[in-house]
Amino acid sequence: MSSENPTPNNTESESDAQVLIQRPRRLRRTPALRRMVQETQLTVDDLIYPMFVMEGEDQKVEISSMPGCYRYTLDLLLKEIQQVYQLGINAIALFPLIPEAKKDEFGVESYNPDGLVQTTVKAIKKTVPDIIVITDVALDPFSTQGHDGIVDDNGVILNDPTVEVLVKMAVSQAEAGADIVAPSDMMDGRVGAIRKALDAAGCFHVGILAYSAKYASSYYGPFRDALDSAPKFGDKKTYQMDAANAREALKEVALDIAEGADMVMVKPALAYMDIICQVKAETNLPVAAYNVSGEYAMIKAAAQQGWIDEKKVILETLTSMKRAGADLILTYFAKEVALMLH
Ligand code: PBG
Repeated sequence: MSSENPTPNNTESESDAQVLIQRPRRLRRTPALRRMVQETQLTVDDLIYPMFVMEGEDQKVEISSMPGCYRYTLDLLLKEIQQVYQLGINAIALFPLIPEAKKDEFGVESYNPDGLVQTTVKAIKKTVPDIIVITDVALDPFSTQGHDGIVDDNGVILNDPTVEVLVKMAVSQAEAGADIVAPSDMMDGRVGAIRKALDAAGCFHVGILAYSAKYASSYYGPFRDALDSAPKFGDKKTYQMDAANAREALKEVALDIAEGADMVMVKPALAYMDIICQVKAETNLPVAAYNVSGEYAMIKAAAQQGWIDEKKVILETLTSMKRAGADLILTYFAKEVALMLH
């Protein structure tokens, strides 16, 4: 009877316990094993490169808070895009720097068929026809107020009149040859209105990448330097989302999908990984994450101080965004990453 002789039993159960030790380190032992079991891969196909265009000729101006990022005049932008495409980057997101003299309260310049964006898109499509051109649909670069919408006398951002402008802007970009339009303004109902207008204009093939869960974030500072588009008063909290909210992001995503979005976005990315993860669980559409200007600037600044290993931190950050659920990443690191992955 075991109760008469407990010793062997004890010994047996001890060795049982030893056999049961799990050793996950086995699969981490060599580089080949680690590659074999790697769950997430970052590839250049995942990357969308945001680029800045300005009027003029033969100029390239570095954005001081975004070292390594430039505003280009069209001629130099085209050269850069040829290089970028050769590196395997399939898509760019275009943002214009509009001269103060062409800004007004209503953003009229935004739907000028011969405006900076429209001219640039046409030229890109002529020079590098296969690169995917994504255009930004929002008023801020065109508005004297620096807001994403039309502002009334009391400082209120007007929703529906803004949507009318966004619709004209999106159609003019599509007619210029944009493959995808990307409303980044956070007005209610704009995705549906843009979809209808694109279809009515015969642009069935033009997609919508909706900035669905876009937060009122302090990480956009360097971008606003780049475009000289900081709001002239107040903040963007009546249209962009509160950083404290997650459920609301799912609601915004559901609305944009119902209105016809082809892809949805979470922005910023780094401080919003939980949102990326939740959005991914809710939809079968491609999910994009925007690794925004402030996230870029933080890595660049620490790297310039020699405090972090820049290349490794970039790859870790972007891989983590994919792991969280992002299918696509808009990132100013796109070119560097393409070079690293080559
Ligand atoms: C504006 C817009 C912003 C960004 C992209 N589109 C700034 C804002 O909402 O104020 C930010 C991108 C970045 O910070 O990299 N429609």
